[in-house]
Amino acid sequence: VERARAEVAALLGAEPEEVVFTAGATEANNTALEACRRAGGRPGSVATSAVEHPSVEAPLAALEAAGWRVVRVPVDAEGLLDPEAVVAALAPDTVLVTLLWGNNETGVLQPLERIAPRLRERGVPLHVDATQCVGKLGVDLRRLPVDLLSLSAHKLGGPKGVGCLVVRRGAPFAPLLLGGPQERRRRGGTENVPGIAGLGAACALALRELPERMRGFGALRDRLWEGIREKIPRARRNGSAERVLCNTVNVEFEGAAGEVLVQALDLEGIAVSTGAACASGSTHPSHVLAAMGRSPQAARSSLRFSVGHGVDERGIDRVLAVLPDLVARAREAEAS
Ligand SMILES: Cc1ncc(COP(=O)(O)O)c(C=O)c1O
Repeated sequence: VERARAEVAALLGAEPEEVVFTAGATEANNTALEACRRAGGRPGSVATSAVEHPSVEAPLAALEAAGWRVVRVPVDAEGLLDPEAVVAALAPDTVLVTLLWGNNETGVLQPLERIAPRLRERGVPLHVDATQCVGKLGVDLRRLPVDLLSLSAHKLGGPKGVGCLVVRRGAPFAPLLLGGPQERRRRGGTENVPGIAGLGAACALALRELPERMRGFGALRDRLWEGIREKIPRARRNGSAERVLCNTVNVEFEGAAGEVLVQALDLEGIAVSTGAACASGSTHPSHVLAAMGRSPQAARSSLRFSVGHGVDERGIDRVLAVLPDLVARAREAEAS
């Protein structure tokens, strides 16, 4: 456990004692927001974005129900936050800002390097959900003034059911799980030792392989997008193509039903999702695409593709071989 703590810390530029192991990013996000509920005993404000993951959005909704004010800063058509708008959302009673760094539906990366220093100057703590970024992007907490950071092992090739919250020195913190001395009393309950060891190993590998991974994933993702653009008319990329994770592309296939494509691709052994991968099978139009100004219809026609370990050029070419026909058939079915 202590070796894993050092491995996680080394990947992130944090101190080992700042790492609190959890059962994943959902628990880490809930724990980060728990500090609000306990702060001062009186409801205050939290600022966030309109494109958060449900594991932040749901605890925020619970805070709202308890009388807190939650300010959701909108994003532009590219899915990006304006740093000025985040600063403008602060109020004298703002206890925390919580932001999703790399979006799990579009891969869009928020300009944290321009937001975090502004919040630090104002003394407002920042929690970042970096679940999609760790292992796919250089994360260096020595340079980025973030107070709390969540991650999940399975997003960087580690086991499911384990993650951590990094609690930087001086950050506001209250434990979510009470009743044990583990993790320096910051998370009660016997540690998930095999999971934690797996997270540590995944972080150690990521530290070594990061540049190569970013190049490799990026090349596969670009091959996929270029192929889609070439072979499929009326395919539109959702979100910024510059500020985006190396492994993700979200595409709207105008006039086709996303869930029909998900099922048709599944029969071909190809796993994609409409909206969030973890909510695959959900038929609600994506709140992320809605916040970017896309209509419910456009959101329903959008698919999220991501590459990772086990995907190679042959796999991408197989997707490109079957997708044009599946899109054409899904369009015909929708039109009839
Ligand atoms: C951005 C983001 N945050 C949080 C989570 C939740 O992680 P977990 O299900 O491992 O708790 C996920 C998805 O898994 C995610 O993509």
